[in-house]
Amino acid sequence: MPASQRLRHRDFLAIPDFSVAELHALFDLADRMRTGRYTAKPLAGKTLAMIFMKASTRTRVSFEVGTYQLGGHALFLSPRDVQLGRGEPIADTARVLSRYVDGIMIRTFAHQDVEELARCAEVPVINGLTDLLHPCQVLADLLTVRQHLGGWDGKKVAWIGDGNNMANSWINAAYRLGFELVLACPEGYEPADHLLDRAREGGRVRLVRDPAEAASGAHVVNTDVWASMGQEEEQRKREHDFAGYTVDRAMMARAAQDAIFLHCLPAHRGEEVTSDVIDGAQSRVWDEAENRLHVQKAIMAALIGGEPLA
Ligand code: CP
Ligand code: NVA
Repeated sequence: MPASQRLRHRDFLAIPDFSVAELHALFDLADRMRTGRYTAKPLAGKTLAMIFMKASTRTRVSFEVGTYQLGGHALFLSPRDVQLGRGEPIADTARVLSRYVDGIMIRTFAHQDVEELARCAEVPVINGLTDLLHPCQVLADLLTVRQHLGGWDGKKVAWIGDGNNMANSWINAAYRLGFELVLACPEGYEPADHLLDRAREGGRVRLVRDPAEAASGAHVVNTDVWASMGQEEEQRKREHDFAGYTVDRAMMARAAQDAIFLHCLPAHRGEEVTSDVIDGAQSRVWDEAENRLHVQKAIMAALIGGEPLA
């Protein structure tokens, strides 16, 4: 937006950027959107820039469709289209985009790049995935837990597999919301120390090696690919190192009877999850993918559209 119209802005880079009360308000708003009770157009006349330095199906489509449904317009910017891909500094990109658009969503590699973008931008910045975090996805996952289990109080969440951006965002969610989270990760694939240490102080987040221990009695069983974007050349080694970490029927049988299975997608059937689990009765992955749309609309309505989170 032009310099003359700029206001103070708020970013969403990590789940703890929102207070507990704000998160509940955000989920309420997302639920109103999910059930068709919200019809306002808070992004009318506004534009979202979407920078994608990595591939995407869900994030790209849900942000673009979500912006349109809220009355706004979204621009898809890949490294082939913008000078950022040819080395223009992220700070300069932030300053320039801020003069044209009302919000920036970015998916990239280094989390520090998103922090720098947010520091230099004069419009809200939303994290659409970094190597460290995937906060929009875990908010969609929490909305799915609320939709199917009524909430997370008194529930045990299991994370089975890589200590990656998804695991780190689940740790942040447990830190902020206080539910029990048990992560089972192989040696050498642990989540980020600084996030785990902070969350462990609350006493409800544990890291174990044995996937059966994590899955035992869990109400939510979660996994993700073994090789994330940017780690493709490690695929073979990871297949070896993650042996025993596949979520299969036997592992689901250890979970609570009404347990749900979540996966952010894309999934590799036969690796981190078997087909009978991801395509089975306990899987909620399609609702989970749909909830990206609702939760991101709520985030954009609040940060860009001025919808109060109270
Ligand atoms: N879950 C998720 O972020 O999917 P995409 O990589 O397709 O955006
Ligand atoms: N951990 C995965 C998530 C994809 C949505 C990745 O970063 O590739």
